Amino acid sequence: MTTQRVLITGAAGMVGTMMRTRMRRDGRVLRLLDLTPPPPAEPGEPVEVITGSVTDAAAMAEACDGVDALIHLGGHSREHTWEDTLKVNIDGTHTALEAARMAGVTRVILASSNHAVGFRTTDEAPLPADSSPRPDTYYGVSKAAMEALGSLYHSRFGMDVIAIRIGSCFDTPLRLGVRGLVTWLSPDDCARLFEACLAAPSPGYRLIWGVSDNTRRTFSLAEAEELGYRSEDNAERFAEEVTAGRPAPDPAELHYVGGGFCTAPLGKHNPV
Ligand SMILES: NC(=O)c1ccc[n+]([C@@H]2O[C@H](COP(=O)([O-])OP(=O)(O)OC[C@H]3O[C@@H](n4cnc5c(N)ncnc54)[C@H](O)[C@@H]3O)[C@@H](O)[C@H]2O)c1
Repeated sequence: MTTQRVLITGAAGMVGTMMRTRMRRDGRVLRLLDLTPPPPAEPGEPVEVITGSVTDAAAMAEACDGVDALIHLGGHSREHTWEDTLKVNIDGTHTALEAARMAGVTRVILASSNHAVGFRTTDEAPLPADSSPRPDTYYGVSKAAMEALGSLYHSRFGMDVIAIRIGSCFDTPLRLGVRGLVTWLSPDDCARLFEACLAAPSPGYRLIWGVSDNTRRTFSLAEAEELGYRSEDNAERFAEEVTAGRPAPDPAELHYVGGGFCTAPLGKHNPV
Protein backbone atom coordinates (compact mmCIF):
# COMPACT_ATOMS: atom_id res chain seq x y z
CA MET A 1 0.00 0.00 0.00
CA THR A 2 1.35 3.46 -0.84
CA THR A 3 1.51 5.83 2.08
CA GLN A 4 -0.60 8.97 1.94
CA ARG A 5 1.10 11.89 3.66
CA VAL A 6 -1.11 14.75 4.84
CA LEU A 7 0.43 17.98 6.14
CA ILE A 8 -1.62 19.85 8.72
CA THR A 9 -0.50 23.39 9.59
CA GLY A 10 -1.63 24.87 12.90
CA ALA A 11 -1.73 21.29 14.13
CA ALA A 12 -1.15 22.19 17.78
CA GLY A 13 -4.32 24.29 17.84
CA MET A 14 -7.78 23.27 18.89
CA VAL A 15 -8.99 21.85 15.58
CA GLY A 16 -5.63 20.26 14.72
CA THR A 17 -5.46 18.56 18.10
CA MET A 18 -9.01 17.22 17.72
CA MET A 19 -8.15 15.87 14.25
CA ARG A 20 -4.91 14.14 15.25
CA THR A 21 -6.58 10.95 16.47
CA ARG A 22 -9.72 11.27 14.35
CA MET A 23 -7.79 11.38 11.06
CA ARG A 24 -5.49 8.49 11.87
CA ARG A 25 -5.81 5.86 9.11
CA ASP A 26 -3.86 2.81 7.98
CA GLY A 27 -1.55 3.85 5.17
CA ARG A 28 -1.56 7.52 6.21
CA VAL A 29 1.08 9.66 7.88
CA LEU A 30 0.03 12.98 9.38
CA ARG A 31 2.77 15.60 9.22
CA LEU A 32 1.99 18.19 11.88
CA LEU A 33 3.41 21.71 11.69
CA ASP A 34 2.92 24.54 14.16
CA LEU A 35 4.78 27.48 15.67
CA THR A 36 3.97 25.97 19.05
CA PRO A 37 5.53 22.51 18.94
CA PRO A 38 2.79 19.85 18.68
CA PRO A 39 3.25 17.01 21.23
CA PRO A 40 5.78 14.47 19.92
CA ALA A 41 4.61 11.27 18.26
CA GLU A 42 3.56 8.47 20.62
CA PRO A 43 5.41 5.19 20.03
CA GLY A 44 3.99 3.71 16.81
CA GLU A 45 1.87 6.80 16.04
CA PRO A 46 2.17 7.54 12.29
CA VAL A 47 2.92 11.19 12.84
CA GLU A 48 5.79 13.53 11.90
CA VAL A 49 6.11 16.68 13.96
CA ILE A 50 7.60 19.93 12.68
CA THR A 51 8.02 23.25 14.46
CA GLY A 52 7.85 26.14 12.00
CA SER A 53 5.89 29.09 10.70
CA VAL A 54 3.54 29.19 7.75
CA THR A 55 5.17 32.54 6.93
CA ASP A 56 8.58 30.90 6.44
CA ALA A 57 8.97 29.84 2.78
CA ALA A 58 11.94 27.53 3.48
CA ALA A 59 10.18 25.78 6.36
CA MET A 60 7.02 25.37 4.29
CA ALA A 61 8.99 24.01 1.32
CA GLU A 62 10.52 21.38 3.60
CA ALA A 63 7.17 20.62 5.21
CA CYS A 64 5.46 20.12 1.82
CA ASP A 65 8.14 17.75 0.51
CA GLY A 66 6.60 14.36 -0.29
CA VAL A 67 3.12 15.44 0.78
CA ASP A 68 -0.11 14.38 -0.99
CA ALA A 69 -2.46 16.90 0.60
CA LEU A 70 -2.29 20.00 2.76
CA ILE A 71 -4.84 20.98 5.40
CA HIS A 72 -4.05 24.61 6.22
CA LEU A 73 -5.28 25.55 9.69
CA GLY A 74 -2.27 27.57 10.86
CA GLY A 75 -2.61 31.24 11.67
CA HIS A 76 -4.59 33.62 13.82
CA SER A 77 -8.02 32.22 14.58
CA ARG A 78 -9.34 35.47 16.03
CA GLU A 79 -9.04 39.22 15.51
CA HIS A 80 -5.56 40.82 15.60
CA THR A 81 -4.07 44.05 14.27
CA TRP A 82 -4.16 44.58 10.53
CA GLU A 83 -0.37 44.15 10.30
CA ASP A 84 -0.41 40.81 12.14
CA THR A 85 -3.41 39.56 10.21
CA LEU A 86 -1.81 40.49 6.90
CA LYS A 87 1.46 38.79 7.78
CA VAL A 88 0.21 35.59 9.36
CA ASN A 89 -3.11 34.90 7.68
CA ILE A 90 -2.78 36.42 4.21
CA ASP A 91 0.98 36.20 3.53
CA GLY A 92 1.04 32.90 5.46
CA THR A 93 -1.68 31.40 3.26
CA HIS A 94 0.13 32.59 0.15
CA THR A 95 3.38 31.05 1.41
CA ALA A 96 1.62 27.76 2.19
CA LEU A 97 -0.07 27.61 -1.23
CA GLU A 98 3.11 28.51 -3.05
CA ALA A 99 5.10 25.87 -1.16
CA ALA A 100 2.40 23.30 -1.94
CA ARG A 101 2.46 24.21 -5.63
CA MET A 102 6.25 24.03 -5.84
CA ALA A 103 6.25 20.62 -4.12
CA GLY A 104 3.57 19.25 -6.46
CA VAL A 105 0.89 18.96 -3.77
CA THR A 106 -2.32 18.77 -5.76
CA ARG A 107 -4.92 18.97 -3.00
CA VAL A 108 -5.30 21.76 -0.48
CA ILE A 109 -7.99 22.27 2.14
CA LEU A 110 -8.20 25.79 3.58
CA ALA A 111 -9.76 26.65 6.93
CA SER A 112 -11.86 29.68 6.07
CA SER A 113 -14.51 31.00 8.41
CA ASN A 114 -18.08 32.18 8.80
CA HIS A 115 -16.47 35.56 9.54
CA ALA A 116 -15.65 35.93 5.81
CA VAL A 117 -19.41 36.53 5.49
CA GLY A 118 -20.06 37.74 9.04
CA PHE A 119 -22.24 40.65 7.94
CA ARG A 120 -24.59 38.41 5.98
CA THR A 121 -27.80 37.87 7.88
CA THR A 122 -29.73 34.85 8.93
CA ASP A 123 -32.65 36.18 6.82
CA GLU A 124 -30.69 34.77 3.87
CA ALA A 125 -30.98 31.21 5.21
CA PRO A 126 -30.06 28.75 3.94
CA LEU A 127 -26.99 30.79 3.08
CA PRO A 128 -25.26 29.35 -0.01
CA ALA A 129 -21.65 28.32 0.55
CA ASP A 130 -20.42 30.59 -2.23
CA SER A 131 -22.11 33.80 -1.07
CA SER A 132 -19.77 36.70 -1.76
CA PRO A 133 -17.69 38.00 1.15
CA ARG A 134 -19.12 40.37 3.76
CA PRO A 135 -16.32 40.20 6.35
CA ASP A 136 -16.96 41.33 9.91
CA THR A 137 -13.32 41.88 11.01
CA TYR A 138 -9.77 42.05 9.65
CA TYR A 139 -9.77 38.34 10.48
CA GLY A 140 -12.81 37.90 8.21
CA VAL A 141 -11.02 39.86 5.45
CA SER A 142 -8.06 37.48 5.77
CA LYS A 143 -10.38 34.50 5.29
CA ALA A 144 -11.94 36.11 2.20
CA ALA A 145 -8.38 36.61 0.91
CA MET A 146 -7.61 32.97 1.72
CA GLU A 147 -10.59 31.89 -0.41
CA ALA A 148 -9.48 34.18 -3.26
CA LEU A 149 -5.93 32.79 -3.12
CA GLY A 150 -7.31 29.25 -3.21
CA SER A 151 -9.40 30.10 -6.25
CA LEU A 152 -6.34 31.65 -7.94
CA TYR A 153 -4.16 28.60 -7.31
CA HIS A 154 -6.84 26.36 -8.77
CA SER A 155 -7.41 28.50 -11.86
CA ARG A 156 -3.73 29.14 -12.57
CA PHE A 157 -2.18 25.84 -11.59
CA GLY A 158 -5.02 23.29 -11.66
CA MET A 159 -4.69 22.46 -7.98
CA ASP A 160 -7.76 21.06 -6.22
CA VAL A 161 -8.54 23.60 -3.50
CA ILE A 162 -11.46 23.42 -1.09
CA ALA A 163 -12.09 26.34 1.25
CA ILE A 164 -14.29 25.49 4.21
CA ARG A 165 -16.24 28.26 5.92
CA ILE A 166 -16.10 26.72 9.36
CA GLY A 167 -18.89 27.67 11.75
CA SER A 168 -17.72 26.88 15.31
CA CYS A 169 -15.62 23.76 15.72
CA PHE A 170 -15.43 23.07 19.45
CA ASP A 171 -15.71 19.84 21.43
CA THR A 172 -19.29 20.82 22.33
CA PRO A 173 -21.35 23.98 21.69
CA LEU A 174 -21.82 24.51 25.44
CA ARG A 175 -19.63 27.56 25.88
CA LEU A 176 -20.77 29.16 22.63
CA GLY A 177 -24.25 30.19 23.79
CA VAL A 178 -27.35 29.97 21.60
CA ARG A 179 -25.39 30.98 18.47
CA GLY A 180 -23.43 27.75 18.84
CA LEU A 181 -26.64 25.79 18.29
CA VAL A 182 -26.65 27.35 14.81
CA THR A 183 -22.93 27.28 13.95
CA TRP A 184 -21.50 24.18 15.67
CA LEU A 185 -19.32 21.79 13.67
CA SER A 186 -18.73 18.76 15.85
CA PRO A 187 -15.15 17.45 15.86
CA ASP A 188 -16.37 14.12 14.45
CA ASP A 189 -18.20 15.93 11.64
CA CYS A 190 -15.10 18.06 11.04
CA ALA A 191 -13.08 14.88 10.51
CA ARG A 192 -15.83 13.53 8.21
CA LEU A 193 -15.70 16.77 6.25
CA PHE A 194 -11.90 16.72 5.90
CA GLU A 195 -12.06 13.07 4.80
CA ALA A 196 -14.68 13.95 2.16
CA CYS A 197 -12.46 16.82 0.96
CA LEU A 198 -9.46 14.50 0.72
CA ALA A 199 -11.38 11.77 -1.13
CA ALA A 200 -13.57 13.73 -3.58
CA PRO A 201 -12.44 13.02 -7.14
CA SER A 202 -11.20 16.17 -8.94
CA PRO A 203 -13.22 18.77 -7.01
CA GLY A 204 -11.50 21.75 -8.63
CA TYR A 205 -12.11 24.88 -6.53
CA ARG A 206 -14.94 24.62 -4.01
CA LEU A 207 -16.30 26.79 -1.27
CA ILE A 208 -18.32 24.88 1.30
CA TRP A 209 -19.81 25.38 4.74
CA GLY A 210 -18.33 23.49 7.67
CA VAL A 211 -21.22 22.96 10.07
CA SER A 212 -23.06 20.02 11.54
CA ASP A 213 -26.63 19.28 10.49
CA ASN A 214 -27.96 21.46 13.31
CA THR A 215 -31.72 21.96 13.59
CA ARG A 216 -31.09 25.75 13.81
CA ARG A 217 -28.47 25.81 11.01
CA THR A 218 -28.82 28.77 8.63
CA PHE A 219 -26.14 27.57 6.21
CA SER A 220 -26.52 25.37 3.14
CA LEU A 221 -24.92 21.95 3.39
CA ALA A 222 -25.71 21.03 -0.23
CA GLU A 223 -22.24 22.04 -1.48
CA ALA A 224 -20.41 19.99 1.15
CA GLU A 225 -22.74 17.06 0.57
CA GLU A 226 -21.88 17.20 -3.13
CA LEU A 227 -18.32 16.36 -2.07
CA GLY A 228 -19.53 13.38 -0.06
CA TYR A 229 -19.91 14.93 3.44
CA ARG A 230 -22.67 13.49 5.62
CA SER A 231 -23.09 15.13 9.00
CA GLU A 232 -24.01 12.80 11.84
CA ASP A 233 -24.28 15.43 14.58
CA ASN A 234 -26.79 18.06 15.63
CA ALA A 235 -26.11 20.72 18.29
CA GLU A 236 -29.76 20.61 19.33
CA ARG A 237 -29.04 17.79 21.77
CA PHE A 238 -27.23 20.44 23.85
CA ALA A 239 -30.06 23.00 23.60
CA GLU A 240 -31.45 22.59 27.11
CA GLU A 241 -28.01 22.78 28.68
CA VAL A 242 -27.04 25.79 26.55
CA THR A 243 -30.15 27.80 27.38
CA ALA A 244 -30.61 26.79 31.06
CA GLY A 245 -30.17 29.74 33.36
CA ARG A 246 -29.02 32.09 30.59
CA PRO A 247 -30.83 35.27 29.59
CA ALA A 248 -32.27 35.21 26.06
CA PRO A 249 -29.52 36.20 23.61
CA ASP A 250 -29.37 39.65 22.08
CA PRO A 251 -31.35 39.26 18.80
CA ALA A 252 -28.63 41.30 16.98
CA GLU A 253 -26.09 38.64 17.91
CA LEU A 254 -28.17 36.02 16.14
CA HIS A 255 -29.13 38.26 13.21
CA TYR A 256 -25.66 38.47 11.72
CA VAL A 257 -23.76 35.33 10.71
CA GLY A 258 -20.66 36.63 12.53
CA GLY A 259 -22.46 37.17 15.87
CA GLY A 260 -20.41 39.16 18.38
CA PHE A 261 -17.49 39.63 15.94
CA CYS A 262 -19.67 42.20 14.11
CA THR A 263 -19.56 44.63 17.03
CA ALA A 264 -16.18 43.79 18.63
CA PRO A 265 -13.49 46.47 18.20
CA LEU A 266 -11.74 46.18 14.86
CA GLY A 267 -8.09 45.14 14.98
CA LYS A 268 -8.08 44.43 18.72
CA HIS A 269 -7.13 40.97 19.87
CA ASN A 270 -9.65 39.46 22.23
CA PRO A 271 -8.41 36.10 23.46
CA VAL A 272 -11.82 35.00 24.86
N1 LIG B 1 -12.42 26.46 15.68
C1 LIG B 1 -13.33 27.17 15.04
O1 LIG B 1 -14.48 27.26 15.47
C2 LIG B 1 -13.00 27.86 13.73
C3 LIG B 1 -14.03 28.54 13.05
C4 LIG B 1 -13.72 29.13 11.84
C5 LIG B 1 -12.45 29.03 11.30
N2 LIG B 1 -11.49 28.38 12.00
C6 LIG B 1 -10.12 28.33 11.42
O2 LIG B 1 -9.61 27.02 11.58
C7 LIG B 1 -8.22 27.08 11.87
C8 LIG B 1 -7.94 26.33 13.17
O3 LIG B 1 -8.72 26.91 14.19
P1 LIG B 1 -8.44 26.58 15.72
O4 LIG B 1 -9.73 26.82 16.43
O5 LIG B 1 -7.76 25.29 15.85
O6 LIG B 1 -7.45 27.77 16.09
P2 LIG B 1 -6.27 27.77 17.16
O7 LIG B 1 -5.99 29.21 17.43
O8 LIG B 1 -6.60 26.88 18.30
O9 LIG B 1 -5.08 27.12 16.34
C9 LIG B 1 -4.34 27.83 15.39
C10 LIG B 1 -2.93 27.28 15.43
O10 LIG B 1 -2.16 27.97 14.45
C11 LIG B 1 -0.88 28.15 15.00
N3 LIG B 1 -0.21 29.26 14.34
C12 LIG B 1 -0.40 30.59 14.51
N4 LIG B 1 0.45 31.27 13.75
C13 LIG B 1 1.18 30.36 13.07
C14 LIG B 1 2.24 30.46 12.14
N5 LIG B 1 2.70 31.64 11.75
N6 LIG B 1 2.76 29.31 11.66
C15 LIG B 1 2.33 28.10 12.08
N7 LIG B 1 1.33 27.95 12.96
C16 LIG B 1 0.77 29.07 13.45
C17 LIG B 1 -1.10 28.44 16.48
O11 LIG B 1 0.08 28.17 17.23
C18 LIG B 1 -2.23 27.48 16.79
O12 LIG B 1 -1.76 26.26 17.29
C19 LIG B 1 -7.85 28.56 11.94
O13 LIG B 1 -7.32 28.94 10.68
C20 LIG B 1 -9.17 29.25 12.18
O14 LIG B 1 -9.18 30.56 11.68
C21 LIG B 1 -11.72 27.79 13.21
